[in-house]
Amino acid sequence: MQKLLKSLGPVCAVIGAQWGDEGKGKVIDLLSEHYDTVARACGGANAGHTIVVKGEKHIFHLLPSGALHPHTTVVIGSGLVLHLPTLCEEIRLLKEAGIDVLPRLFISEEAHIVFEFHKAIDVALEEERRKREGKGIGTTGRGIGPAYTDKAARDGTRMQSLKGDMLPILERHAERVRRLYGVTVDSEQELAALAPAQKLLKDRIVDTVRLVQDKLRQGKTILIEGAQASLLDLDHGTYPYVTSSQTTSAGALQGLGIAPRVLTACIGVAKAYCTRVGEGEFLTEETGETGDRLRKRGGEYGSTTGRPRRCGWLSIPDLRRAVMINGFTHWNITKLDVLDEEAQIPVCTEIASDGKAVWKKLPGWKTSTVGITDFLKLPKEAQQYLQFIEKETGVPASLVGTGPGREQMIVK
Ligand code: GDP
Ligand code: IMO
Ligand code: MG
Repeated sequence: MQKLLKSLGPVCAVIGAQWGDEGKGKVIDLLSEHYDTVARACGGANAGHTIVVKGEKHIFHLLPSGALHPHTTVVIGSGLVLHLPTLCEEIRLLKEAGIDVLPRLFISEEAHIVFEFHKAIDVALEEERRKREGKGIGTTGRGIGPAYTDKAARDGTRMQSLKGDMLPILERHAERVRRLYGVTVDSEQELAALAPAQKLLKDRIVDTVRLVQDKLRQGKTILIEGAQASLLDLDHGTYPYVTSSQTTSAGALQGLGIAPRVLTACIGVAKAYCTRVGEGEFLTEETGETGDRLRKRGGEYGSTTGRPRRCGWLSIPDLRRAVMINGFTHWNITKLDVLDEEAQIPVCTEIASDGKAVWKKLPGWKTSTVGITDFLKLPKEAQQYLQFIEKETGVPASLVGTGPGREQMIVK
């Protein structure tokens, strides 16, 4: 671990390389033991990051996953859209588990609020799209798109406003939202939903850009927690089947207000196969029995919505593109153990001119890798599988997941 930490340096980002749910939460949890500050940079409660410690499961939607470690300073950056009841509930659940995050939590005054009406608009727009296009985006229904739309239209509400009277703000929204979307805003309900957050979080809303800058000047280390993933990025993902934020390393730096040259490492997180929740292209998808097998072995059900995840094989072209866009310096290849039963593992190595996948079949290992922490103890075929990914992408597989537990990780 010490050698890896040295190669990561003081400012490291962890970014998903596929369509999300790669296992970012787990590696962040593992690394944040060694970092002073942990920070979420973008997205909202559409994220669901699962951490398993001693058999106990914690799911984070808005708080950074590194919050589990009591020494960490916990930052929610400017690029987020925050559904405050969800945030308060997360803080409460952690407290119940014996972890008091509030005194070390800092929320950007520039982050935006997701109101209940944003969720209603999200659902209404999905319905409208389904009627128009035959299918929706398959959003998480958490109001993410509408909240970012308001932000871009300069009609959003920043966290700063929570310190004052919210009623006039809500009344302005009510008029606008009714006119634009035909959605009714229940100001009383909105105020009731906000009240506990106003009380709990008022003193935690600060200038996080300055805070992070001060930390860096003091020589503190910072772990940046990406949410969603490269292929869901608003600019570089499979548009329009994407989320409404920038999910890349550049997006994370923007979301936190950190200059790009400060970043010392970027870990790309990719499953040893691939999954996707929601609609949109998925060239290497297996829809039949094979997909069901991967879903079952991988426990592939959404951490946020519980929806079954679509499953398929690894795509090298997608990984290469993610390396290019994010500047990955290290891989965390996760869920290698899910492939333990496969006799052969198909991998898409390129996309032909007709748009079809070109496949290479790699030999499986047909033996358990669960919990292995030493690369050399992996079956030869598993080692070769990882080496194949390294060779094809030019990035070392420095971390390899062999189970959901905090300890089930190979650190090279
Ligand atoms: P995230 O959104 O990227 O943080 O990922 P999620 O938490 O949504 O989904 C990843 C799932 O895989 C979670 O249930 C994790 O507990 C689990 N997981 C993470 N790494 C591994 C691994 O190496 N092996 C197995 N079997 N499960 C893993
Ligand atoms: P984490 O951080 C997987 C997907 C949704 C949908 C699309 C748009 O856990 O990896 P949105 O609600 O954002 O407007 O939905 O993006 N999506 C995710 N899929 N993991 C996520 O986050 C996701 N966040 C959004 O399923 O297809
Ligand atoms: Mg997830």
